[in-house]
Amino acid sequence: MKTVCVLPGDGIGPEVIGSAEKILVASSNSIEFVRGDIGESSFKKYGTYLTKDTLGLMKSCDSCLFGAVTSKEAPDYDSPVLRFRKELDLYANLRPVRTLVRMPSREPIDVVIIRENSEGMYTQNEVYDDKGVTTMRRVSKLACERIVSFAIGQARKSMRRKITCVHKANVLRASDGLFLTIFRDMMRSDGKGLTASEQLVDSAAMRLLTEPSSFDVIVTLNLYGDILSDVAAGVAGGLGFAPSGNIGPKFSVFEPAHGSAPDIMGKGVANPTAATLAGAMMLRHLGLQKDAETVEHAVGDFYASGHLTVDLGGRHGSESFTDHVVKSIRR
Ligand code: NAI
Ligand code: MG
Repeated sequence: MKTVCVLPGDGIGPEVIGSAEKILVASSNSIEFVRGDIGESSFKKYGTYLTKDTLGLMKSCDSCLFGAVTSKEAPDYDSPVLRFRKELDLYANLRPVRTLVRMPSREPIDVVIIRENSEGMYTQNEVYDDKGVTTMRRVSKLACERIVSFAIGQARKSMRRKITCVHKANVLRASDGLFLTIFRDMMRSDGKGLTASEQLVDSAAMRLLTEPSSFDVIVTLNLYGDILSDVAAGVAGGLGFAPSGNIGPKFSVFEPAHGSAPDIMGKGVANPTAATLAGAMMLRHLGLQKDAETVEHAVGDFYASGHLTVDLGGRHGSESFTDHVVKSIRR
């Protein structure tokens, strides 16, 4: 039996995670859930967005399934997401995006974005002075090596052939240049059988839209990966379609790539696909390959049989999606 720490969080977090939980329960006899607080619910009870106890609970479980939190504007706000990524050493962010519903105006996409998750622009190192603010952006040799190594391993595991390094080394010559050099060296030494390619981040963003099939696996730095994965999600139909896994040497946290979507909270229209597919990624990570496939097939069948969720202009809200997928798993 594997124990999963469930952290629903804020906004549509509890809605999409509730759906994912029902679908995971229907598809696997090998997991049990314990619940933890994060975000507003934690702040109301304990005065902090992520307690030490919750971090301890996350570490004591085999993996975690997280919804989303609503961030605050206060300058001293300490993001619970950045904090658990750091405390649990979740250095790799794995974001597969795949078209499930063909749309006339959009090319199909099937890409895995691997984002460096521990440094870059997200170190929260921002320094005020009398003229403005300076943000420190860290790019270390170790972080580049381990993310490129993770990308190579992931490409092999998922039978993919090409890895594109997305960077901005023409301007950020030292930092992104280091990342690019390490990518080139490691692809030469460890990337046998894989094709290495390189692209500047701005043109990569355009190409993801116009020619998504030219990408297979993308490895990139923190900020670029954050932005490009939402672009890719848009190509696939919206943020409701992009699952995400935060992975480290010991711990892992799976979540939809989207945020708490306060604009649709409580309306019953949030698409649970991303959260559900994040759950499937978690099952696979826990070695429950067959259960993961059950979930993925049931979600694929929902769309293949012509059903559309509200975000795609259809009539299926969160509950209806969940009922259909659970029924198809039980059949
Ligand atoms: P968002 O991802 O929450 O929403 C962007 C747009 O996509 C909205 O129009 C929303 O309705 C739509 N959307 C998102 N998920 C959807 C789903 N499952 N089904 C249908 N439509 C969906 O990003 P936004 O609005 O920029 O941020 C809202 C809050 O979420 C902010 O406080 C932000 O800081 C936070 N956030 C939290 C994240 C996390 O906890 N990991 C990640 C990203 C944002
Ligand atoms: Mg994001």
